[in-house]
Parts: sequence; structure tokens; C-alpha cells
Amino acid sequence: MPATVVVGTQWGDEGKGKLTDLLARDMRLVVRYQGGHNAGHTIVVGGETFALQLIPSGVLYPETVPVIGNGVVVDPAVLVAECDALEARGIDTSRLVVSGNAHLIMPYHYEIDRATERSLGKNKLGTTKRGIGPAYADKAARIGLRVQDLLDEKIFRQKLDVALREKNLVLAKVFNRLALDGREIARVYLEQLAPRIAPMIGDTVGLVHEALDAGENVMLEGAQATYLDLDHGTYPYVTSSNPTAGGACTGSGIGPRDINRVVGIAKAYVTRVGAGPFPTEVEGELADTLVERGHEYGTNTGRRRRPGWLDLVMLRHAVRLNSISEIALTKLDVLSAFESVKLCVAYEYEGERLTSVPYHQSVLHRVRPVYEELPGWGDDLSGATETGDLPAAARDYVRMIAEYAKAPVTYVGVGPGREQYVRFAA
Ligand code: IMP
Repeated sequence: MPATVVVGTQWGDEGKGKLTDLLARDMRLVVRYQGGHNAGHTIVVGGETFALQLIPSGVLYPETVPVIGNGVVVDPAVLVAECDALEARGIDTSRLVVSGNAHLIMPYHYEIDRATERSLGKNKLGTTKRGIGPAYADKAARIGLRVQDLLDEKIFRQKLDVALREKNLVLAKVFNRLALDGREIARVYLEQLAPRIAPMIGDTVGLVHEALDAGENVMLEGAQATYLDLDHGTYPYVTSSNPTAGGACTGSGIGPRDINRVVGIAKAYVTRVGAGPFPTEVEGELADTLVERGHEYGTNTGRRRRPGWLDLVMLRHAVRLNSISEIALTKLDVLSAFESVKLCVAYEYEGERLTSVPYHQSVLHRVRPVYEELPGWGDDLSGATETGDLPAAARDYVRMIAEYAKAPVTYVGVGPGREQYVRFAA
């Protein structure tokens, strides 16, 4: 059975957690393929809220095996804490399997992330300060430590020694910070964390292929989103991995032909956290309403998200970048507050109308959105379960999205609960 990829089409926080949770019901494996605990998935089950950072949403289903793939960067202390927190609430985490090839986030990655942001001043990226970028940088520079190194004390110490020599120089000479003590890092990682992580380490590539060969359903769960992609996002205001669907292959160890379904998650409006261009951003009372009704504050960092109208130019581009086969539209209920709603259908730049995302980012920074304004619906959508339960104006809004983005909308979220969604049929 080929695999399903779930990918965000905007700048993250599209509500992927709830959808992956819904799809996970039918999955044997749910695999995270990139990112780290910069992600935050919120799932509401039976009135209880679960906020997951590293562990894939599949953990909430006893028949599903959650997998942390090789493309993820893992802070083992966070992983252990997340397992303990779930266990304390009666969720069994013993099925979790972590790739030995996933890279470790080390204490110096946090230090460097924070120090770099500080030194960038007004040019800072607004990272989550979780050490994500520095950990991926070390992976590419080939001085990273991997999860499997926790299993070999000698190798761990050797690699740590090499990396720390450079990091301490950078911390001291570039950032004027104190050097870190390698013995203390080794003690915590090898004595406290390794015994907890060791039983979780497994052959994740083998597992995924066994499941596919056996005809079982596999889901590849992206964190962050298309426009935070290192290659296709609004660089440098991006994360340091590839959330786009292509990243699902490298980050889990399968090829493109193993994927037959790509679900793109789009919020009915757009938000972004941190800095970077955002053509449809809104301000003032409208922004406050979107933020308050949508609870648009970071799961992880508590930061207020920047809100804006849905950008169909970017959504259509995301459909191409990811081979999206269907769109899941989330949080439509949040827009019920408005008398009319807007969709960005093109950009205007120096008197010209652009209908695709400009390749030169300086242009993207300066475009003005061209909107189509549609009537709002005003009604409470929270009880809708079928397409016909949605008011006609809401259905029209959804249809227009599908038409412009060139992919069908199959799911519409109408509230935070696990069951609050409509299987949408055009
Ligand atoms: P980093 O991933 O911590 O390096 O942060 C880089 C950029 O990605 C910043 O703008 C973050 O706000 C953004 N970012 C990282 N993870 C998420 C996420 O899960 N949701 C939304 N934005 C994110």
C-alpha cells in the first residue's frame, strides 16, 4: 500500500495535528520525517488537550506505531519528557521507534541558536530557539552526533570532543559566551538519557518498507510547512529542513513511487510566526479578531501569530511543489465572525498583475494582494458534519479555493474537537 504524506501549505500552524490524528486511525505507521521540537501539534480528544512536539500524533492510537524518522533532529531530553508526560496521562509510548540516523540536538545548538538570533538584532529570523538550525547545520557539515551514537560511549565522546572544540571557540570568540563543559554534556547524554532512548532506537527504514510490502497504511507526517521549507520557503525566514513532500522521501527512507496521496493542509486564513514576507497580512481589529477567535498563539513559544487572508497564489504554488492530491481546509469556523471574507487571487506589482509566486523574493516583499471579496455566512459551523450542513456562502468559499488551487478540498475543519469536521464533496 503506498504512503500518504501530510504537509502544511502555508507557514505552519495550519492544524496538521488534528488532521494527522484523524488519518492516523487507519494507519499502521505514522512517521515524522523532518523538523524537531520546534513543531507543536495540538489534538483535543474527549475534552482533553494533548500538545505534542516530537512524537507523531499516531501515538494516541494503540494500533499505530509512531516513528521518528532519520530526517528529524531529536533533543533526547525533550523526547524522554514528552514520553513521561504522555505516560502520566495513560498513553502508552512503548511502541515508539526512533531512527538511529536522526541527529541529536546538543546543548551548544541551543546556545548558538540564541546567540545568533541576538547578534542578528533587527534582522533576526524569529526562530523557536530550540537549536534546530544549528543541529541541521552540523548534520550538513558532518560534525553532528546521531541518535545511534548514544549506543556507543567511545564514539559519542570522540564526536562530542570534535564538535565541542569548534563550538566552544565560536561561543567564546564570536559570541563572547562561556565555553560548555564536555564532561557534563557526556554525563547527561550517556548516563541519564541514553538508557531511556536506547530501547526506542530501531531500523525505521526497514519498518516502513515492511509495512508497505505488507500492504499496510503508512503516513508521513510533515512538521512546519511549505513556505518554511529551506529550499522553497521565504528564505532566510525558514526552518532548516525540507517539510515539502519531497522531504518525506529522504526523511524516512522511501522513494517517490511509494507515495500515492499527498494531503495539503491549508488554514481558511493564513498565519505566520517570526519574521518574513507575508503579502496578505492584516492588522488592527481584523487581526485581533482572527487571532482571538483562532487562538493564534504558538503551542510551543506562546508567541502571537501574524494573521492574514488566505493567499490562493501561494496555495496553488504549494499544490505544485508538493504534488498535493487533496486539500484539507482547517478552521473555517473562525471566519464565521465576518460579514464578508477575502481571498487573494493575484498580486499587483509595479502596475502588473502576477498570478504566480514571483521567483525573486524582493518582489514578493513588495507585492500588493488583489482580493476577491465574498459574502460571509455568519452562522455557527461547529455542529456541521456534512457538506449540506454548511451555509451556501461557506460552501462557495471552499469551492473557490479548490478551483484556484487546482486540487479538491476533501475535508473542512469546523472546530477544535476531534470530530468537528466535514467530509467535503464539491
Ligand atoms: P526554527 O525552526 O526554530 O529554526 O525557526 C525558523 C522559522 O520557522 C521561524 O520563523 C519559526 O517561527 C518558524 N517555525 C518553526 N517551527 C514552526 C512551527 O511548527 N510552526 C510555525 N512556525 C514554525
